[in-house]
Amino acid sequence: MPPITSPVTAQELEILSVKAIEAKSQAYCPYSKFRVGACILTESGEFVVGANVENAAYPVGTCAERVAFGTAVVAGHKKFKALAVATDIKPAASPCGMCRQFIREFTSPSFPVYMYDGEGGYKVMTMDELLPDSFGPDHLPK
Ligand code: THU
Repeated sequence: MPPITSPVTAQELEILSVKAIEAKSQAYCPYSKFRVGACILTESGEFVVGANVENAAYPVGTCAERVAFGTAVVAGHKKFKALAVATDIKPAASPCGMCRQFIREFTSPSFPVYMYDGEGGYKVMTMDELLPDSFGPDHLPK
């Protein structure tokens, strides 16, 4: 049986959404002008933010989700309760394919991804819905 992600409280979700929306202001996106903010809630109750960071060599740019997860992992976090992603568009944008695979490395199938639109509305999907039948560390031989 895959591990079940710990539930998020209403208070945690409120903070998570505010921080993801605020993180959009840290986006470095002079080329696309498409701001993305992200915030992860760690199993230990900490919030780690990220934003997209673009580059003049366009493919080198990094998405908000990978900035947030990379920051969290390097800070020593390995278990996570939820992710929020915020953009300025409506309906809400969902993580790109590369980010889905990146997030999958550190999360369980039931891990919730909250996607906020530019008006504060959101939709939520689990990692298994975003990346079904996925490949992860558990598939590699020990
Ligand atoms: N972007 C993200 O940060 N996250 C996603 O999941 C989708 C796209 C960024 C990458 C680029 O800086 C801009 O949005 C436009 O694609």
